[in-house]
Amino acid sequence: IDPIFPFSQLNLLQPLQGACAAPDLLRGLRLAEVLKSKGANVKDYGNLEFRAVPNDFAVVLGCNYARTVGRANKQIQDEVSNILKNGESVLVLGGDHSVGLGSVSGHAKIRQDMALLWVDAHPDINTPLTSTSGNLHGMPVSFLVKELPHLSPRVPGLEWVEPCISSRNIAYIGLRSVDLQEKMFLRTLGICNFTMEDIKELGIDTAVTNALDRIDPEGKRSIHLSFDVDALDPLIIPATGTPVPNGLDFRQALTIARIVYNTRRMSVMDVVELNPLLSTPSAAIRSAQVTVEIIARAFTGKRMRYPSIRDVDI
Ligand code: ARG
Ligand code: MN
Ligand code: MN
Ligand code: MN
Repeated sequence: IDPIFPFSQLNLLQPLQGACAAPDLLRGLRLAEVLKSKGANVKDYGNLEFRAVPNDFAVVLGCNYARTVGRANKQIQDEVSNILKNGESVLVLGGDHSVGLGSVSGHAKIRQDMALLWVDAHPDINTPLTSTSGNLHGMPVSFLVKELPHLSPRVPGLEWVEPCISSRNIAYIGLRSVDLQEKMFLRTLGICNFTMEDIKELGIDTAVTNALDRIDPEGKRSIHLSFDVDALDPLIIPATGTPVPNGLDFRQALTIARIVYNTRRMSVMDVVELNPLLSTPSAAIRSAQVTVEIIARAFTGKRMRYPSIRDVDI
C-alpha cells in the first residue's frame, strides 16, 4: 500500500474559507507517521499550488468561480492520474468536495473500470441549473456521471471534465440532506444509496457490503472512496462547513473504512470538507484526530490501539 498525498488547498467553490487549512493540520497531527507505523509506505507530494483565474466571475451559469475551480481541478486530475500510473494509491486531502471533479476523473483516466463510494451527508449531484447555492462542492457528481451532463450547460472553465462513470457504479452512504432535484436524479437514475435511515435499519456493515456488491458486483473494480467528513455527526466532527445532525458515529465510519480496505482494491481516497477554522481550536483538533484514524483504517486496515480489558485491573 502506498498512500500518497497530493494535498489540495481548494475551497473556492463555497464561501466558507478555511478548508485549505486541513491538510497542514492533518500533517501536524502526524498523519504520515501514523500511516507508516501501521505499515504503509507514504510519500507526501506536498500542497498543490492553485492560482486564481484573473477576473473569474463570481457566478457564471450558476457556478461560483468555475474557471478557478476548473483550473485547480485540472491540476488535481493530472496529479492523481500520474501517481496512479506509478502503481501507487492516492490520498487526496481537500479542500472542499469540488476536488472530486479532478480526483474522480483522474482516477477514471487510468482505471476505466472504477467504482465510486461517496460517503457524505449530501449527494453533491446538483447541476449548475438545479443548485440553489451555486457552490460547486454541491455539484461534482453531476459532472462525472455519464447519464447527466446533457442536462448541464457547458460551463466555462469546466469544459474539460468528461463524464467518466456510469450511475450504476456509484453508491452513497450516510445521506440525510438531499435537495429536491437531487432526489429526482437519484430516483430516475436508480443510484444506489443508503441514507442514515437505511443504515439505522440495516446496520452499517450490511449497508456498505450491499453498496459495494451493487457498484462492483464482480469484485474486481478499482475503488474510489470519496469521504466527506460531514458524513459523521457534527458532535464528532464539528469542524465542517455544512454540518447536518444525525450523522454517522465514529465506529460506523471506521467500519466503512475497514470494509473498503478489505477489498484491497481502494486506489483513491478523498478526504474533504474538514474546516479547522469553523470551530474552536480544540474541536478542530479533535475533528482532525478522528479523520486521521479513519484514513489510517482505510489504507492499512489497522485500527487504533484500544486499551484491552486484560490490561485493566478490576
Ligand atoms: N446541497 C447543497 C448545495 O448544493 C449543499 C452541498 C454541500 N456539499 C458539500 N460537499 N458539503 O449547495
Ligand atoms: Mn460532499
Ligand atoms: Mn457533505
Ligand atoms: Mn435508499
